[in-house]
Amino acid sequence: MKVIILKDAAAVAAYGANIFKKQLQKKPDSVLGLATGSTPVALYKELIKLSEAKEFSFAGVTTFNLDEYLGLDGEHPQSYRYFMNEQLFNHVDIDKSKTQVPPGNAQDPVAACNDYEADIDAAGGIDIQLLGIGRNGHIGFNEPSSSLASRTRVKTLTLDTINDNSRFFADGEYQPHLSITMGIGTILESKKVVLLATGASKADAIAATVEGPLTAACPASALQLHQDAVIIIDEEAASRLA
Ligand code: F6R
Repeated sequence: MKVIILKDAAAVAAYGANIFKKQLQKKPDSVLGLATGSTPVALYKELIKLSEAKEFSFAGVTTFNLDEYLGLDGEHPQSYRYFMNEQLFNHVDIDKSKTQVPPGNAQDPVAACNDYEADIDAAGGIDIQLLGIGRNGHIGFNEPSSSLASRTRVKTLTLDTINDNSRFFADGEYQPHLSITMGIGTILESKKVVLLATGASKADAIAATVEGPLTAACPASALQLHQDAVIIIDEEAASRLA
């Protein structure tokens, strides 16, 4: 595990975007694993700028998102499909038919999870997976106690995560408590993993990820097992490291 500590969130986004730039220059038909949440937004902005400057193209790229709320379809403004369209896909030359987000409106969610795994395999596996991290150490929606060998499945969100994400929902708006998420085992099969974290609220989770024991109590600690995991953090997120 490589840990890169940078001054602030802007530097984290720029550093992360450069890794994706190099990947897409080297392999224009890369398979990207993508994340939602607040943290990757600045990185997506950088990627939009770089693609506008013709540093690389998204035309040959296939993407798989980590997770989606179960019960929201892709038109719903709080869905992760909607988020990805707004934050990245609508602004670059990507073929949207090659962008996958787990189907939040699946009639048979269990079958949809198996199909998602099969689709990742059929695409040749994920070349580079972008991750954020929850304050409780979750990656994707793999909450604490998730099996480190888990695959894409339906997962109940913890109260912590529901509360953290309530900022995206209006008062009284329906907020799902279930998700479909890639598993930790799925994430570990990506050829490269890039985790971004910024701000003091992530400091404990980062310390547990990097220096804590390998434990399902901190799902991100599973990245200690990965051969090519890069943790890019700002000084605040690094503040609890020894
Ligand atoms: C999002 C995801 C989550 C977030 C995490 C951090 O697709 O899988 O694990 O990365 O909850 O969210 P932010 O960046 O909003 O703090």
